[in-house]
Amino acid sequence: MKKTIGIIGAGNIGKTIAVHLLKNGYTVNISNSKLPESLKETVARLGEGATAVTAAEAAEADIVILAIPWLQAKTLTNITDWKNKIVIDASNHYISPDFQMADLGNRASSEIVQEHLPGSRVVKAFNTLYFKILAGNPVEANGHRVLFISGDDNEAKEQVSEMIKNIGFAPVDLGSLSAGKLQQAKGALALQNFIKL
Ligand SMILES: NC(=O)c1ccc[n+]([C@@H]2O[C@H](COP(=O)([O-])OP(=O)(O)OC[C@H]3O[C@@H](n4cnc5c(N)ncnc54)[C@H](OP(=O)(O)O)[C@@H]3O)[C@@H](O)[C@H]2O)c1
Repeated sequence: MKKTIGIIGAGNIGKTIAVHLLKNGYTVNISNSKLPESLKETVARLGEGATAVTAAEAAEADIVILAIPWLQAKTLTNITDWKNKIVIDASNHYISPDFQMADLGNRASSEIVQEHLPGSRVVKAFNTLYFKILAGNPVEANGHRVLFISGDDNEAKEQVSEMIKNIGFAPVDLGSLSAGKLQQAKGALALQNFIKL
């Protein structure tokens, strides 16, 4: 039996990832910043296997996907014990609706997310593609659409890679969380839509 994945954020990216997971036999606990009742229609549209929960309940899953504005990660510090939890960070470090970006110094955006979630094993993924591209069939031209991953914990990356393969995409490991600078907003791989043949 496949895992239950927690998704925090039920907007464009959260719902798009949920559709791929549900299509491939995962169950999904999805949340936003409000009460689960506010997601009644969303989970009805997502269909069987999707449940609306609080962010704290979504964070109980073994793998938790953050599909929220980057600045919001700091609000999640105390909603669960993050120690050893696998967190997929799909965020980009925009800090305003007109796409101004946070000054990260020399850090990668997901390194800062990891600091907000003490002890978590953050893997950056699902952040490079516009959600309408991500929503398409990942099998194209006899290949699989690439999702870049980066992270400091190899076992976490293995589990995320397995999930990514199970939903039809091709994981490409860039290395450490710091190497994730390549895939974060404005990085060389941001928005690049590759097919692995
Ligand atoms: N859109 C894209 O094509 C795309 C592509 C790659 C990566 N990303 C990144 O993915 C993230 C989400 O983008 P999006 O386009 O999906 O945004 P969105 O459509 O605005 O959705 C954001 C979601 O996050 C929820 N949220 C906000 N603060 C929260 C909190 N503190 N706790 C729980 N839930 C919270 C919102 O819930 P409420 O409705 O309750 O506020 C909403 O469901 C961003 O970091 C973005 O940079 C986006």
